[in-house]
Amino acid sequence: MATAQIFLDRNRTTAPISPLLFGGFIEHMGRCVYEGIYDPASPLADENGLRTDVLEALREQAYTVMRYPGGNFLSGYNWLDGVGPKEKRPSRRELAWQSIETNQFGTNEFVDFCTAIDAAPMLGVNMGTGTIQSASDLVEYCNVESGTYWSDLRAQHGYRQPHNVRYWCVGNEMDGPWQIGHLDAEAYGKKALEAAKMMKWQDPTIQTILCGSSSNSMVTYPDWDRIALEIAWEHMDYHSMHYYAGNRENDTASYLASAVAFEQYVDVLEGTLRYVKAKRRSQHDVYLSWDEWQVWYKGDPLQGNWTEAPHLAEEIYNLEDALVVAQWLNVFLRKSHVLKIACVAQIVNVISWLHTRQDGLLKQPSYYAFKLVSNLARGEALDVLVKAPAVETKEYGDVPALDVSASYDAQTQQGAIFLVNRGLTDVVTTEVIWQDGKEVKLEQAWQLAGTDPKECNSWEEPNRLVANAIPVPEVVNGRSTISLPPLSFTVLTTRTP
Ligand code: AHR
Repeated sequence: MATAQIFLDRNRTTAPISPLLFGGFIEHMGRCVYEGIYDPASPLADENGLRTDVLEALREQAYTVMRYPGGNFLSGYNWLDGVGPKEKRPSRRELAWQSIETNQFGTNEFVDFCTAIDAAPMLGVNMGTGTIQSASDLVEYCNVESGTYWSDLRAQHGYRQPHNVRYWCVGNEMDGPWQIGHLDAEAYGKKALEAAKMMKWQDPTIQTILCGSSSNSMVTYPDWDRIALEIAWEHMDYHSMHYYAGNRENDTASYLASAVAFEQYVDVLEGTLRYVKAKRRSQHDVYLSWDEWQVWYKGDPLQGNWTEAPHLAEEIYNLEDALVVAQWLNVFLRKSHVLKIACVAQIVNVISWLHTRQDGLLKQPSYYAFKLVSNLARGEALDVLVKAPAVETKEYGDVPALDVSASYDAQTQQGAIFLVNRGLTDVVTTEVIWQDGKEVKLEQAWQLAGTDPKECNSWEEPNRLVANAIPVPEVVNGRSTISLPPLSFTVLTTRTP
């Protein structure tokens, strides 16, 4: 019988969990905006054209921050195309995804959408075809109260109050040769620095995000990160990471150990941040923003053949994908000291666990994994000690069968434990041991589990894989035992009685 022990101490915290770790990303790509969040022709749309079923699902997921409008789209986007009277907005050829962009949804509609789901907007400025002037103008348009050209234009467009957008991405994946207006690290660092200077002169309260490498497989990684950071350090608050995972070799054991790769990626960039801070003799801190993360490998088309809202990258996700998502969220908690923002790419239809069709919405298994963590991880991350049997993987060697994170909020005295059994065959009988000597009670228990890693939900069977409430184990003398089935994600909530 496989057994494991998890040791917790509510005083042994590592860092506050940033609420911004539960963010999303919306790009003008495929059907994310049109037919995803915005679909005025749909019977399910509200008076602003927003899909009410999608809004409800997004609210359930408790998103805290939303990144927009791209993505590769950003690097060819003129934000002026997307503001003002809708009938005057131009239709354009959109080069990144070879689609037709009607511009019926733009900055102001995006901010309204964020208000509707109670998420903070995070806007990108174009560092491809865009200039430092256009970046500065957009900050003025959004955040200056009134009495200037751009702020008055916003008022004319029906938005008298400033949007007060706090988070600003200075470009997108500028290291990628596929990017419109791609630059090398030095040229990008200099342009980003000059843009951020102007943007912060417009509004000193904003926080800026520098483009990091677009993945750790880039040949320029991690020099790109170091060079851009060395140049722009003092004017940046976050450094971005992007990564898409996948089971390309159909090697499920290795795929289910993806958390190892995620942690290594963070570790390298954390080292880079420390190095640059020391080299610059700086008092300033820069944190990580993992503002594109998701499973993406199944090979759906990426080019729209010059059509509106084409079906692009509409991934079908299964149980193993959901267990990778759950581990990703565990990594976010374990790396809370340096990782402060994360945005899943994307929130609907495109590389997403939510798919729309005219008459409804399909929730894929990873939807439930995200929903549990985003609603329950509060307060501080705990330093969890895990003693678990090893599972063998081709890619990462032996890894513990359990991947675990935990949170505790001293104010509410509530906590949560997030446990992935990434083994393919064995139930792991797990003892959870609280070492702090304080009383504790388990309150709720949820589980997303199945027997086949390839199992998924479908329009015909939408509820095959959901998170189910399971019996809550008892705690006796600070110890509790729970059986974790293979291929499962279990969440326990705690409170101090
Ligand atoms: O999210 C899809 C694309 O992936 C984004 O446009 C780009 O930034 C990344 O390569």
